[in-house]
Amino acid sequence: MININTEICTRCGKCQRVCPAFIPKIHRDEAPVLHNTDDCIGCGHCVDVCPTRAFVHSDFPVDKVRTIQRELLPSPESLMELIRSRRSNRTITRKPIPRHSLDMILEAARYAPTAENSRQVSLHLITDDASLQAVESSVIGMFMKLARIMLFPPIKVLMKPFLRDLYNRVPALMAMNEQFRSGQRPSICDATALLVISAPRSYDFGSQDCNLAYQNASLMAESLGVSQVYMGFVQTAMFIMGTGRASRLLGIPRSNKAFAIMGLGMPAFHYDRYTVR
Ligand SMILES: Cc1cc2nc3c(=O)[nH]c(=O)nc-3n(C[C@H](O)[C@H](O)[C@H](O)COP(=O)(O)O)c2cc1C
Repeated sequence: MININTEICTRCGKCQRVCPAFIPKIHRDEAPVLHNTDDCIGCGHCVDVCPTRAFVHSDFPVDKVRTIQRELLPSPESLMELIRSRRSNRTITRKPIPRHSLDMILEAARYAPTAENSRQVSLHLITDDASLQAVESSVIGMFMKLARIMLFPPIKVLMKPFLRDLYNRVPALMAMNEQFRSGQRPSICDATALLVISAPRSYDFGSQDCNLAYQNASLMAESLGVSQVYMGFVQTAMFIMGTGRASRLLGIPRSNKAFAIMGLGMPAFHYDRYTVR
């Protein structure tokens, strides 16, 4: 339900200027009109800009509308320093990530923009050790199987000239396998939590929305002193593995695709410097 309280509406026209669905029509000398309210995308801009709180939207009751605390906003310099100092810190320890930090990381992800405000991004945290180990062993198993096929002499002779980049990665895969066999989890960088950011396969902007959520979450992780590493290696393995197995391992519905996965954990140390890019 959308409505305008005409008693307190000043007809300033701000709601009309910000509405992406062209719903409010405001004229200085006439009562405000709402057109095609079914087209509302639920972004809440109308409620956020109304200076007198005359704009009423059932999705945003009074307790869901907060005044921005401008004194808490970072300065451009401090935000830039956070952006510059964010690194993929892979020195993850077994120290648990405080629950409050995980909650803030999830909340940061939820506030990312989504196409047409469709908010189809799902956030799923994997924190139990058995599930983390299952992901790691499946990823390593997958790549070792691939390496064995690639190194089979007749295949190697035929394929190496065409797949040089892939063959150049084989020593790194072998080194990861060694680490795995010694009890480490190299493909997930020993993460103690995986944040699986997924969206329906049928949704056109899944990749964009999930990766915007990732970026919000990664900056929040950095500001909390929590390590985050993009799990591209895991994502590639999941892609090769196929939908059923990947969704079971990641704990997401088959109808969803993990467009971004974040490895999280408490680092052994923080960096004192960043290199200029
Ligand atoms: C799409 C993507 C995939 C990545 N995959 C991995 C990965 O599987 N493992 C890893 O350790 N780092 C991965 N990274 C992290 C990059 O290696 C890292 O961002 C890059 O080296 C720059 O370092 P920085 O993040 O510390 O600035 C990935 C990054 C991106 C954007």
